[in-house]
Amino acid sequence: MCGIVGFSSHEKSACEPLVNGLRRLEYRGYDSAGVALESADGIKVVKQRGKVAELDKLLKEELATEDERAKYTVGIAHTRWATHGLPTTVNAHPHIADDGNLALVHNGIIENYATLRAGLEKRGCKFVSQTDTEVLAHLVATFDKGDFLSAVSHALKQVEGTYGIATISRRHPGEMVVARKGSPLVIGIGEHETVVASDVSAIVAYTRQVIYLKDGDIALVTPDGVSIYSLDNAPVSREVQEVDWDLGAIEKGGFDHFMLKEIFEQPDALRNTIRGRLDKSGATAILAGLNLTPRDLASFRRVAIIGCGTSLHAGMVGKYLFEKLADMPTSPEQAAEFRYCNPIIGPDNWIVALSQSGETADTLAAVRESIRKGALVSGLCNVVGSTIAREAGRGVYLHAGPEISVASTKAFTAQVTALLMSALKLGRTRRLSYSEGARLVDEIERIPELVGEVLKQNERIAEVAAKYAKADDMFFIGRGILYPTALEGALKIKEVAYVHAEGYQAAELKHGPIALLSEETPVVALLADIPGKEKTVGNVQECRARNAPVIGICSEGDSAAAEHVNDAIFVPKTSEEVAPIVSVVALQLFAYHVARLRGCEIDQPRNLAKSVTVE
Ligand code: M6R
Repeated sequence: MCGIVGFSSHEKSACEPLVNGLRRLEYRGYDSAGVALESADGIKVVKQRGKVAELDKLLKEELATEDERAKYTVGIAHTRWATHGLPTTVNAHPHIADDGNLALVHNGIIENYATLRAGLEKRGCKFVSQTDTEVLAHLVATFDKGDFLSAVSHALKQVEGTYGIATISRRHPGEMVVARKGSPLVIGIGEHETVVASDVSAIVAYTRQVIYLKDGDIALVTPDGVSIYSLDNAPVSREVQEVDWDLGAIEKGGFDHFMLKEIFEQPDALRNTIRGRLDKSGATAILAGLNLTPRDLASFRRVAIIGCGTSLHAGMVGKYLFEKLADMPTSPEQAAEFRYCNPIIGPDNWIVALSQSGETADTLAAVRESIRKGALVSGLCNVVGSTIAREAGRGVYLHAGPEISVASTKAFTAQVTALLMSALKLGRTRRLSYSEGARLVDEIERIPELVGEVLKQNERIAEVAAKYAKADDMFFIGRGILYPTALEGALKIKEVAYVHAEGYQAAELKHGPIALLSEETPVVALLADIPGKEKTVGNVQECRARNAPVIGICSEGDSAAAEHVNDAIFVPKTSEEVAPIVSVVALQLFAYHVARLRGCEIDQPRNLAKSVTVE
């Protein structure tokens, strides 16, 4: 939710690094974008409603020559996902104060902004936007008595809420102050240049040496490096880490969209999720990051898997896996609901927090509540060093590589795979036999190859998508372990193709929603050949009796199921545990092609942002 970039150099113009950085972060929000550039003449702000490409155009008009751009070697930039105030140019960041001498960008929410604003207005500050952020710019200016870092610390101490900020001031040439609480911020240390960003994807083009700020950190950034402090001005030491992936991982690599690239990356991504984590001789999984002894695992009475959106759907698959393989009562929980429903949890509960980004505010809040209540919390995150991963303190990294498309794809299959390995490990300390464990180890090893087989159906799936791309309503049905896959298929097509879609338990359709079926409402039925399929076939017949066309995701060679549907898409036959993974890949491709044919903005759907860092 909002992306921040900062750049500081002695000689190099900040314009290009800032705009390039914003392009990398655009997945975090794309309502408006802006930059503030510092030179000896003062601070220049260029911002406007719309995407980074439009900002780039405007910036090139305003600073038309190399010479003009060269004088700005320090700057901050922002791409916005609106929370307070409409997505207009005036509400776009950076916000300014001190007669244009100070500029600030912010990611997060200032909860007490109305009170702060009233106080500042009484002191004569003039506000031009409806944002919470502008308050912070004025506060910093008000506290500035000659020491920029301490002015920002003072201001931040007044703030209730969350922030990742970067600010520059004409009164402090060459200095940039950045700080974080609840919104991520990473500092890249280059050669005589320093880059700041909401995530490393905006940094890797310049350096791989990064420092992840922690909540409560404030840092003074110059071209020569960074000094980090607590808000009380005590020096803080943070490790410099090396990013282990390169630019190629965050570029489209010949695909039209990141979504398609990430769908096709799944065999490799899953290989990375699995690598080194299977113990053939013990017929179990090795998940060292969980840091759980067999005694810990045996002590759990209940598991709750928390997450939002796609991660919640993965957690719903996890319920089936944990209950089937480990006899462990497990509940998938929407993170925000979980946090506020006074969860009855304690030391004998294992809370598994699922999050691709590791920054989702609702999930993070639920993690904190669970830790406070004494439960044992593990994070299953993709982004290394993310807040949830760090605060949980133990867990499994997905290693699926950067996911740029707002619609999550490879993170889902990696999450389900990681949950399957977790359930295997837990099961083997409880009731799961050696031979069952060995069977699962073999199944898990085959997942990347099986997903590769589904990808070969891309053309067929595009053909089926073309037949149904004009439908405005769709249903997705599945039962048992395939029910969450139905929800995920519906979510994907809603997000990227703007088709109204509902996921239902196959048996539930006849209890009401069937009233909506007609020849214009396609039903996508999850018919992989696993227990329960015959009953879903029965539900398919009910749909067809109401003239609804049915698309079946069937197991290879299962002509008996395929003959009941109008259009079959075949996926490899697998065990029940792996069926959600192969089936969902077909639904990801289906949603992608429908969206493409409907001319949608696939990687950046309207109203969305990749990581939702507000509650
Ligand atoms: O980063 P997270 O996994 O915590 O994100 C959770 C959801 O916001 C995310 O899955 C969202 O639903 C995606 N847009 C789904 O494609």
